Amino acid sequence: MRNWNFSAGPAAIPEEVLKETQSELLEWNQSGMSVMEVSHRSPEYIEVASAARQDLIDLLDIPDNYQVLFLQGGATLQFSMIPMNFAADKTADYLLTGSWSKKAIAEASKITTVNTVASSETSNFQNVPDAAEWNHTNDAAYFHYVANETIQGNALHQPPETESPLIADMSSVILSEPIDVSKFSMIYAGAQKNIGPAGLTICIIKDEFLATASNELPGMLQYSKHAESDSMFNTPPTFAWYLAGKVFSWLKTNGGLEAIAKINHTKAKTLYQFIDTSDFYSNPVAIANRSIMNVPFILKDSNLDAQFLHDSKNAGLLNLKGHRSIGGMRASIYNATPQDAIDALIEFMREFEKKHG
Ligand SMILES: Cc1ncc(COP(=O)(O)O)c(C=O)c1O
Repeated sequence: MRNWNFSAGPAAIPEEVLKETQSELLEWNQSGMSVMEVSHRSPEYIEVASAARQDLIDLLDIPDNYQVLFLQGGATLQFSMIPMNFAADKTADYLLTGSWSKKAIAEASKITTVNTVASSETSNFQNVPDAAEWNHTNDAAYFHYVANETIQGNALHQPPETESPLIADMSSVILSEPIDVSKFSMIYAGAQKNIGPAGLTICIIKDEFLATASNELPGMLQYSKHAESDSMFNTPPTFAWYLAGKVFSWLKTNGGLEAIAKINHTKAKTLYQFIDTSDFYSNPVAIANRSIMNVPFILKDSNLDAQFLHDSKNAGLLNLKGHRSIGGMRASIYNATPQDAIDALIEFMREFEKKHG
């Protein structure tokens, strides 16, 4: 039996998608084999791959002057590829708002000069620093930020205003609501939250910015090589790409990003409201910066954490443990997690509080 899965990633995948995949697993598209066994260069596979790319373009309304790449290496490889390609001889600006921006900065620092424009580390990343206090570099190679910090559960809900090319790690927020892609020089995201299985990384890069990328790196590290070869510079993660395509179709069938955004905002609102009205649970993130995808919360008495996790698991509510670096709980409520799951979680939390509060 499938339970509600609140994992931060790899995360829940829509059940309809899994069922459809199951029905095609042994034999796909009358090919006499599974999709995993088909050549990535075959016309049948290229059709699936192109349809997935087009559906992503439609969903995000990506303008024509952007490349949409299906790569490997996770968002973590992007932490290195970005400075390698774009910051060879210039300072790169980074906003430090949580664990993932910290990792991005650590990797970039090995390659280029990093200017941390602002940081909320001293307040445990419970907010995003006020834009008025950001210390930009003139003529920076780019400005990098993490739109949604998966671990701390904070988010920047609007793209920042900056003179330099804007790059966003959208791993845990992509496809949760519409965005204006034209504001960005580059957006990237690991797939294992709102896109599909791990092993696939999406990069959306503006042509004008791509033209400034290094041509001297090893091929696998050059964005332009991936763009020239339609993301088939080498064998791509064919199964993950195929499955991501199914998730994109599922989103389109269910009304696209406007529709899912409404559902996501209601889900988050119900959960935060419940937490805020309780004395037993709390969420430390500044209200304006609260994530709609990852909701960390702590219990008044951390001695009850183990009991909470034990009982919630028995109640069919999985993976509520907070990240090991900050403790407490975290409910990740991506697109594939419906309102019913939130309602079940709140009901459980209410009962737990009654028993132990
Ligand atoms: C915001 C963000 N950036 C980067 C990463 C790293 O992704 P990956 O494990 O795909 O390299 C994660 C993973 O959870 C994330 O949430």
